[in-house]
Amino acid sequence: SMAVHSHIERVLWTHDQISARVSDLASQISIAFHGASSPPVLVGVATGAFIFLADLVRHINIPIAVDFVRVESYGFGTHSNGAPTISSDLKVDVKNKHVILVEDIVDTGNTLSCLIAHMEVKGASSVSVCTFLDKPTRRQVNFQLVGEGKFYSGFQCPDYFVVGYGMDFAELYRNLPYVGILKPECYQ
Ligand code: PRP
Ligand code: MN
Ligand code: MG
Repeated sequence: SMAVHSHIERVLWTHDQISARVSDLASQISIAFHGASSPPVLVGVATGAFIFLADLVRHINIPIAVDFVRVESYGFGTHSNGAPTISSDLKVDVKNKHVILVEDIVDTGNTLSCLIAHMEVKGASSVSVCTFLDKPTRRQVNFQLVGEGKFYSGFQCPDYFVVGYGMDFAELYRNLPYVGILKPECYQ
């Protein structure tokens, strides 16, 4: 197998560990939505979720739809509250559909709470979340799922700066097939 990138201090989850967990999550979703009124819509949050979403959907064995959204957080300037805004919206109409928001990581919860509210406004009949990693220690916003929505999480992430499997620092490292802790000298 390939050597670990020289900027990685420690690998938290290997490609094999990730694959096993992702296929578990896909089974849970397949069972939960089997026989649902309509195929659930899996909504990947670009960019970070692209690899997790691609792996997850290939292990789901019920009909589903796939779409993407992009969310940006405001920096300094015209808006001071730091609230995220949706810069690229859905293509699929989710009215009366079951939405599953797919994230690579939930940190403060700001991105998800914005997206959950957005899906509710669009008339989704339920909103679930499937995140590869959860960092509950960093939560600022306690989001509420919609309807019969459930929270699926791959692994609880310790409070380190992690990259790989879709996650970046300055757009780099997303392509690493494992998740690792970035050496501090690489982001300072
Ligand atoms: C990261 C990550 C989540 C979000 C989580 O995305 O992919 O989408 O932050 O953080 P939060 O819970 O504090 O809102 P980022 O904004 O870095 O964009 P990216 O996916 O393009 O890397
Ligand atoms: Mn993201
Ligand atoms: Mg990022």
